[in-house]
Amino acid sequence: MTTSDTEELTLTPAQIEGPYYKVGSPKRSTLIEPGITGTPLVLTGQVLNERGKPIPDAVLDFWQSDDRGNYDMVGNILRGHVLTDQHGRYSLETIVPACYEPRQARHVHVKVQGVSRPYTTQLYFSDDPDRVKDNFYMKELEVQIDDLPDGRKRGQYTFVIRQVTEKDNVTPESLASRVA
Ligand SMILES: [Fe+2]
Repeated sequence: MTTSDTEELTLTPAQIEGPYYKVGSPKRSTLIEPGITGTPLVLTGQVLNERGKPIPDAVLDFWQSDDRGNYDMVGNILRGHVLTDQHGRYSLETIVPACYEPRQARHVHVKVQGVSRPYTTQLYFSDDPDRVKDNFYMKELEVQIDDLPDGRKRGQYTFVIRQVTEKDNVTPESLASRVA
């Protein structure tokens, strides 16, 4: 993905948080642990700023339902956050969530932040035939899913978020940590 100095990439659309977010998720690269069932899914991609520069140390905080459509509101089952590497890349191992009323689309919730406001959104899956019936589904938030030979699924999604600028009345230190 390339861009000139004046051209900006299309930002990842924000979506509602929904009722199931909890602060304090553990930092971990896999949400699969004993007791978790379902189809494993490896989700990878990048976090870019509005000029297409990879954002290192961005936080991606994921939460989702299990393969029966339930969220854990007591503990941290299927909740976790990862950081991007120096190239703005992230990787998360999880499972394909089930759907639950009143939603029609399987989805993963995520909050992304990297010297920016937090962006709350949801990701959908290209191989979910019911996704288009969902009121919140957007093509721009669709993860391209591939089936791996070992039965897992693999998905890729690139987030584009706007970083803080001088207009945001931030400190010089905040601006200095922005990816130029
Ligand atoms: Fe949800």
